[in-house]
Amino acid sequence: MATRFPAAWLDELRNRCDIVQTVSGYVQLKRNGHRYWGLCPFHGEKTASFSVDAERQLYYCFGCKAGGSVIQFVMDIERMEFQEAVKFLADQHHIPLPQMEDDAEYQRRRSQRDRLLEANKEAARFFHQTLFSDAGRPMLDYLKKRGLTDNVIRKFGLGAAPSQWDALTLYLQEKGFTLEELRLAGLTVVKEAEPATDTTPAKPRRAFDMFRNRAIFPIIDQHGNVLAFGGRALGDQQPKYLNTSDTPVFNKRLGVYAANLLRKERHLERVVLVEGYMDVVSLTQFGVNGVCATLGTALTAEQARLLKKFAPRVHLAYDGDKAGQHAILRGLDILQAEGIPARVLDFPDGLDPDEFIRQHGPEAFARLPAITPESYRMRRLKEQHDLSTQEGRTEYARACAALLRHLDPVELEGHLQELMVQTGFSREVLSAQIGLNVPSPANEAPTSPAKPPRPRPSAPATEDQRAQEVLISLFATGRVPSDIASPEDFDEGLMRNLYTALMHGASPASLAEQQQAEADRERVSRILLTPMSEDTDQLLAMARDCLSRLRIRRCQEKINNVMRDINQRTGDEKQAALNQVQQLTAELKRLKAGK
Ligand code: UTP
Ligand code: MN
Repeated sequence: MATRFPAAWLDELRNRCDIVQTVSGYVQLKRNGHRYWGLCPFHGEKTASFSVDAERQLYYCFGCKAGGSVIQFVMDIERMEFQEAVKFLADQHHIPLPQMEDDAEYQRRRSQRDRLLEANKEAARFFHQTLFSDAGRPMLDYLKKRGLTDNVIRKFGLGAAPSQWDALTLYLQEKGFTLEELRLAGLTVVKEAEPATDTTPAKPRRAFDMFRNRAIFPIIDQHGNVLAFGGRALGDQQPKYLNTSDTPVFNKRLGVYAANLLRKERHLERVVLVEGYMDVVSLTQFGVNGVCATLGTALTAEQARLLKKFAPRVHLAYDGDKAGQHAILRGLDILQAEGIPARVLDFPDGLDPDEFIRQHGPEAFARLPAITPESYRMRRLKEQHDLSTQEGRTEYARACAALLRHLDPVELEGHLQELMVQTGFSREVLSAQIGLNVPSPANEAPTSPAKPPRPRPSAPATEDQRAQEVLISLFATGRVPSDIASPEDFDEGLMRNLYTALMHGASPASLAEQQQAEADRERVSRILLTPMSEDTDQLLAMARDCLSRLRIRRCQEKINNVMRDINQRTGDEKQAALNQVQQLTAELKRLKAGK
């Protein structure tokens, strides 16, 4: 039965299993003030940017932006679902599980989700069985022709959609699924009945299978749910791959292909991210572990963060063609923005990973150098410049210098060598251009002092947003009376909700937990960390300052808006607008005088 834990019980659970103690089971923490610092377990790093706030019972990593409550931490580190993590913690602290709550809407959505997942699972079984029957002969022949073994076909649960119009639809209807459920799951296409017109006869409602005459790749998430399908045409029919569009249980921007197999791999050093289903299956057959693919879109930030849960590094192994090269540059940008270390496998002759490993073998694949993002970018820049001319070399050196600026001296060294050889410029000239004083290798290598954690640019976009975030963080201390503000002071939905919840006494950790979207949860965790000051008067002054800035700006904006089209108004309308401006101006004066 779908169930939910009561909020008060969850509060109690979070209080009893102290986040510092829980995290300490996985990460060595050092205390500094009311925060604890350690090496982030969710991304590879050498300096501590992972912080745990004992007062707020929240964690947040300034490096990779992971953040949340103690329950979220257990979900991420143990790769558990919410309910699993709650039970895990309760069990660990000998806290009895509560009576479950019922909630009609929650139940309805849960049960629809369960039904669609169940339909998908049955469909996957149907496809897989069909592959080994007469109707699946052409698909099995196709997969065999592509070199796949029975073993790997079973491992990925590959299947066959027969050519019959409605084989799957009839099968699933017989199992008790309604046409509406099958339509929602993206398995069946329903064409509504059409009445007769002068020129055409009436048409009855028709239902047919979404996937026909294709080899099927089921898309299964890390919990074993079948979310969707990709279907490969057996010949040159278009589209080559047909994919389930987004459904209530599937969002192609959030998941990766083969997440179910990734989860089972322990102690992966890196995941290999490829472009195609076939590349995943093929590399896996040849013994490469930790391979997955995006689902027919460019890499998204959400997918990058998902990959981070499986391994500390990502190797981009996209096709060696022009499109693949372009996708690598974009992928590197995404991974870098998420603070995830990346490497690139560059395939020669425009080959894709599947073609490469078949032509050259798994040893050649293992020997492919894992190129740093900077080397890869330099490689692409090199193609855009003519290094046989002085001008080309100069431009190239400049472009590379800008690229290398953010590296630390140790990382820089190798690239600098490469650049010296390519351009003929001396170490001194290139170092000056990069803007760093890089010691020559003859000198003793400097002991690099521990860098302070550098806050990442997850900072809010506008000053207004920042002011709202600061206000929320101040109200969360409980030492600034929340009635000095009102919900209208927050024009961003998320901030307004946080304010209202805090006014009603919600705990910061519970607020972080309630965020459905990962990005929101991480943002809320960052905002709700304890502010630096301990002084109540100072906190109050900061809150008043933020509020007044917000209110002044909004008032000014209103005035500007009215003024902008005041000349297009006439008569009473114009008079009303003038009155409004007068009132607003008086209000603005009051605000500026601090009243
Ligand atoms: P590719 O065109 O590179 O195919 O598409 P591939 O992986 O080499 O496949 P084979 O070897 O020809 O069978 C890579 C990925 O892009 C998406 C699919 O996810 C595919 O795996 N794609 C491609 C589509 O969604 N639709 C298409 O028509 C083509
Ligand atoms: Mn291919």
